[in-house]
Amino acid sequence: MSIAAQEHLIRPARNVYGSLRLPGDKSISHRYAMLAAFAEGESHFTNFSTGADCASTLACMQALGAKVNRTADATEITGVAGRVTPADQPLDCGNSGSTMRMISGLLAAQPGRFTLIGDESLSRRPMERIRKPLQAMGARLTLTDGHAPLTIEGAPLTAIDFTPPVASAQVKTCLLLAGLQCEGTTTVREAVRTRDHSELALRAFGANLTRSIGSVSIAGPQSLHAIDAAVPGDISSAAFFMCAAALFPESNLVFDHLGLNPTRAGLLDVLTALGAHIAVLNLEERNAELVGTVRVSAPPEGLRSTAITGALAAQLIDELPVLAAIGPYTSGGIRIRDARELRVKESDRIALAVKNLRAMGAEVEEFDDGLDVPGGQSLHGATIDSGGDHRIAMAFAVAALRAQGDTLIRGAESAAISFPEFFDLLDLIADR
Ligand code: S3P
Repeated sequence: MSIAAQEHLIRPARNVYGSLRLPGDKSISHRYAMLAAFAEGESHFTNFSTGADCASTLACMQALGAKVNRTADATEITGVAGRVTPADQPLDCGNSGSTMRMISGLLAAQPGRFTLIGDESLSRRPMERIRKPLQAMGARLTLTDGHAPLTIEGAPLTAIDFTPPVASAQVKTCLLLAGLQCEGTTTVREAVRTRDHSELALRAFGANLTRSIGSVSIAGPQSLHAIDAAVPGDISSAAFFMCAAALFPESNLVFDHLGLNPTRAGLLDVLTALGAHIAVLNLEERNAELVGTVRVSAPPEGLRSTAITGALAAQLIDELPVLAAIGPYTSGGIRIRDARELRVKESDRIALAVKNLRAMGAEVEEFDDGLDVPGGQSLHGATIDSGGDHRIAMAFAVAALRAQGDTLIRGAESAAISFPEFFDLLDLIADR
């Protein structure tokens, strides 16, 4: 999907409040779409992600033979019952690393030759991390200088026991989807527990897998069966508004039907450490995913300081840009380390966070694997270079709410990758 370049002007706010129900989680929507498209039968989803990334996954699965019907209220997917149709065109994954890495695992065990392409940003992202293990299982993957375009020649696979060198839920999922289809038990080990939506979703679609501390195993081959599900609201989208609320002493924001999977909810701990008031209500489980209501308000005395390192940095990787962006407004600053992966996301998010913080007048120190943002600083409005990266555009729109003067976000259209409603909802909750 190509979206015209846009700029968005953000005026400072006096407060942030309101009550929101957010579109479905991007990570869960990708998985539900892939598994439903691969399963037997017709699955029905409500609150499916509205982001362009998940539309890329749906389009790829359609090109592989699944039937997709999207209405305003529901997304219906009829699956291929375990056997995809070889696509005659390259599969376009758009901006979505999740689509490319996870679908590769599905296709590695399918007969045929598949080509996967992506936009300029995705074509720079490392794909060796999936080529190695899939090749060890018996598929043949050809990359272009370590990146997309990539071609997969599917083959009957052999199970493996693999520890990805970098913590990655996408790589774990890729291997579980390959393992689902091959004889024997595939085990993925991880030192840091990455988001576990694939494990929960595979079980919801009827697969058996075994989990223990530090590993997950799947014994193949197994088949999947259609489900009906409501996708929980996206906590990584909520993160922008939660951080906005944390900046204003009179704020009060409520999110209902929000995904609160413990492998995704680390931000609530970080905001609590910073002094924000967080209340979680009405917790329930839907298809093994925790869902609930969250209320966020700011401490009258302002935010304190915190450090995000080690496993927490890996688990909070998508939330780090917005945490860096609010760092100047804390009293003691925000320190981020062990987050080298930020450099190979949709953009080099460390470099762009540093550049844009400096453009707004902040002092910041850059490290190879993170950044130090001292607290007690005031920022001024500036022109922000989002680098076409949705999370950078949204993070600096949040920083702009407390700046002196207006801020222009360049490449604001990129928000639609995960959260097309972002700027409208920001206007709704920001009191000016
Ligand atoms: C995702 C995993 C993370 C994350 C991405 C979504 C997923 O990527 O940054 O936005 O849905 O599995 P990695 O697996 O590369 O860490």
